[in-house]
Formats: sequence, structure tokens, C-alpha cells
Amino acid sequence: MPLIAKNLIAGYGGKPVLEKVSFTLEDGEILAFFGHNGAGKSTTLKAVLGLIDTIEGEVILNGENIEKMSVDQRLERGMKLLPEGRGVFPDLSVRENIEVVDAVNRKNGRQMISAPDVYELLPVLAERRSSIAGELSGGQQQMLALGIALLGSPKCLLLEEPSVGLQPDLVENLFSKISEVCKHLRVPAILIEHKIVSALKIADKVMIINSGRLVFNGSKQEAEKIDLWNYF
Ligand SMILES: Nc1ncnc2c1ncn2[C@@H]1O[C@H](COP(=O)(O)OP(=O)(O)OP(=O)(O)O)[C@@H](O)[C@H]1O
Ligand SMILES: [Mg+2]
Repeated sequence: MPLIAKNLIAGYGGKPVLEKVSFTLEDGEILAFFGHNGAGKSTTLKAVLGLIDTIEGEVILNGENIEKMSVDQRLERGMKLLPEGRGVFPDLSVRENIEVVDAVNRKNGRQMISAPDVYELLPVLAERRSSIAGELSGGQQQMLALGIALLGSPKCLLLEEPSVGLQPDLVENLFSKISEVCKHLRVPAILIEHKIVSALKIADKVMIINSGRLVFNGSKQEAEKIDLWNYF
């Protein structure tokens, strides 16, 4: 199992926000993660990535317990966060953005996915190679952020509301790309989203959190049989 979170209790200043959050992810699976503002979605990702200390629980990535590891060590092992907002260098061109990150990864010997692979996976980046990143549309910037995340050859993608600020047709486009990339590279992803209907289309699993507790955790098929809205 590529990612296992077991009974995570974590919070801020020693005060727990999460109450025993557990979930698993298989290769290539997309876990849609829903919940109200302040429910604990970002806190869960922070605990998985090591940005906050866990009070209790375990995080296992590809068989290795990473729970006590630093953020850097977890990043080295292939955890990758696509943060809210856009993780691109706005003053550089698309090509320069990709070259800079590609060069760093090559130096670090992490080269499973190289620049040509990213252009092939996300053709819009090849088309806009010479454009300044800050002048791309929101959707294109998100594609670039995704491309940059892929250059690190991720073993697990943590996607924090990638659809923020995108018009509906661009959301569908971005999500189907995310799905294609995860399935093709067999990389699992946690997708935090408020655009529930769109996120459900690409989800394999669904998780809903309410005041730090998981109130639903099941397959997409199970989620489709119930009224999800009752769980918020
Ligand atoms: N840095 C922090 N210090 C103290 N408390 C925090 C901090 N960040 C978040 N919290 C609290 O933890 C709880 C969960 O917040 P979290 O950011 O995980 O919510 P979320 O589900 O990501 O919400 P949103 O959809 O608004 O992004 C909230 O009560 C919030 O006030
Ligand atoms: Mg959040």
C-alpha cells in the first residue's frame, strides 16, 4: 500500500484538531477529500507531510514509516504538495520554469520524469513554452504547477484545491489531466476540493471530515449510494 495514515492525532500548540484520522491509498488512486472550511483538511495534509508534529499515529509511505521524519526527508521520498494558489515562478517563461526545476532534480539524481515527459503529458505547456508564467490563464498556471510537481517524480501527490479561481470548463479539463497523469504514472493523490461534483468524477475514494473527525471514508461506489450532503 503506497500511503497509509493510521489514527492520526495532530493539531497546533499541543491542541489536537484531528481525531484519529485513518486512510489508505493504492497506486494511482485519487482520494477526494471534502469538508467545510476549518474542518481539518489542510491540517491532515500538513500532518502527512510533516509540516506539523503529530501527537499520535503513523504515516507509512511505500512500506516505510515516515512519521518521525522531517519535511525534507518526506519530500525526498516523493511526497509532493501542490499548495493552494500557484506554485510557479511568475516572471519566468514556461520553459524556464520547467528547466530550473528539471535542473535541480537532475542534480539530485531524481529524474524519473524529465522535461520532455512533462511536455508530453501536458501538451498545453509545450504550446505555451515561451509565454511568461504570470501571464498564463489560471488554468494554464495550474497545469504548469502540476508539471513542476511531476518533475520531482512524486510518489504521492497532495493537491490542495487546484481548482481555485478556475472557470468550470477549465476545472473539468484540469481534473481530467490530473486523473490521466495519476493513472498513467500510477501515482496516488489526495485531492482537497470544494468543487465536489467535479472532484467526484475523477475520485476512486471519498473522505469527508467534520470537526477533525472522518465522518465518511469509502469507495466512490459507496459514496454514490448515499446522500453525501448529509455528512457535512
Ligand atoms: N496555524 C494554525 N494555528 C492554530 N490553529 C489552526 C492553524 N491552522 C488551522 N488551524 C485550526 O485548525 C482547524 C482546521 O483547519 P484546517 O486549515 O485544517 O481546515 P480546512 O479543512 O483546510 O479548511 P478550508 O477549507 O477553509 O481550507 C480550524 O479550526 C483552524 O482554525
Ligand atoms: Mg484548507
